[in-house]
Amino acid sequence: MLSKYIIQGGREINGVIRIGGAKNSVLPIFAATILSGRKSIIHDCPILKDVEIMIDILKVLGCSVKREGHTVIIDTSGYIEYEVPDILVRKMRSSIVLLGALISRVKKAKICFPGGCDIGPRPIDLHLKGLEQLGVKINESHGTIYCEASDLKGADIHLDYPSVGATENILLASVFAKGTTTIRNAAKEPEIGDLQNFLNIIGAKVSGAGTNNIRVEGVKSLNDGEHTIIPDRIVAGTYMAAAASTGGNLELQNINVEHMQPIIAKLKEMGCDIYFKDGSMHITSPKRLRAVDIVRTLPYPGFPTDMQAPIVALLSKAKGTSIMIETVFENRFKHVEDLICMGANIKVDGRIAIIRGRSRLTGANVTARDLRGGAALVLAGLSAEGTTVLDAVEHIDRGYEDIHLHLQQLGADIVRI
Ligand code: UD1
Repeated sequence: MLSKYIIQGGREINGVIRIGGAKNSVLPIFAATILSGRKSIIHDCPILKDVEIMIDILKVLGCSVKREGHTVIIDTSGYIEYEVPDILVRKMRSSIVLLGALISRVKKAKICFPGGCDIGPRPIDLHLKGLEQLGVKINESHGTIYCEASDLKGADIHLDYPSVGATENILLASVFAKGTTTIRNAAKEPEIGDLQNFLNIIGAKVSGAGTNNIRVEGVKSLNDGEHTIIPDRIVAGTYMAAAASTGGNLELQNINVEHMQPIIAKLKEMGCDIYFKDGSMHITSPKRLRAVDIVRTLPYPGFPTDMQAPIVALLSKAKGTSIMIETVFENRFKHVEDLICMGANIKVDGRIAIIRGRSRLTGANVTARDLRGGAALVLAGLSAEGTTVLDAVEHIDRGYEDIHLHLQQLGADIVRI
């Protein structure tokens, strides 16, 4: 039986919240700990379904992993298996990042094609093309990828698209490769910068994260290391959206302002007042948000695709008409059907959604179909009149730690059953 949220809408979201570490940083950094063959201490690891799946995978591979609250201690000094169990990989697409880590550490890997959110085709051709250029021999058969690399050599790799996962995989695979590796047209997401920082702490030589070109000088061995994960910009953006959708005021602690700029820009256009004081970010929202002409999701520093669904939920109640263009993933408008059940006026044509803001939404029985779409329906429920019953909230557990408890503390009427 899946869990549900019961939300009585109409309460303002007010108060103070501390933002935890980023899921999309923790996962590749956990994979990177495999490289060292030593002990890594990682702070601010959120307690999330995806993170716990990654811990399970590390344990099956032979790592010793201990969680102490939000700190995770990973010792990878023992024998490491090269085969990642299908059942765990299928639960989480990001497990593909283990490919680069295992190739680096044990020179071979066997992993099935990954699972994760159903938000359109998520090929891994760019990952594999880059790895081949480093000297990895790849065989694919019946949905399984076999990789072997007796001799990894640095290479000049140009990505056709700045894929986050491909950049991470190639980066991990190149840490011990002989000579220099350059990844051109690399993803610039802040989580890549966090991975670079962790790798450098344990002794790798990586530079350029955050720019188009990442450079890796191969090293021979790595050390113990201790690192704190960057704050989750998408979780922060979702709580900001919760305040904005209910006319509330929020103080957010543990924020990297630079990483938040694409989200801040749009919320300001919608009429929110956002400022920084004493190391915290504050958002004050108007009684009714304004529509924005066009929002286009793009690789960082463009507007993040992971905030598309939450912002569509907000625009459903904004004054005027907005256009959302999803350029990163296909099939990422599944939440729209449920928003329409709640009274939203949205038309979708392929990758474009036209949102005509309504003055009110009404509670309904809806279903979370993926992680961010589920979060969007929570926001819609908070601002709707009446009761929303949101089913299959396990999707939301993949990316938000205790979202209902945090929202309760901030004044929401939301319970989990
Ligand atoms: C990561 C994030 C995800 C976020 C996304 C975009 C993690 C765990 N997940 O996903 O939350 O929404 O970045 O910011 O960090 N593509 C190819 N071939 C490839 C790889 C990707 O065509 O080999 C395409 C994908 O289908 C997609 C686009 O490139 O259309 C972006 O994907 P990518 O940047 O790789 O996202 P992920 O790493 O999967």
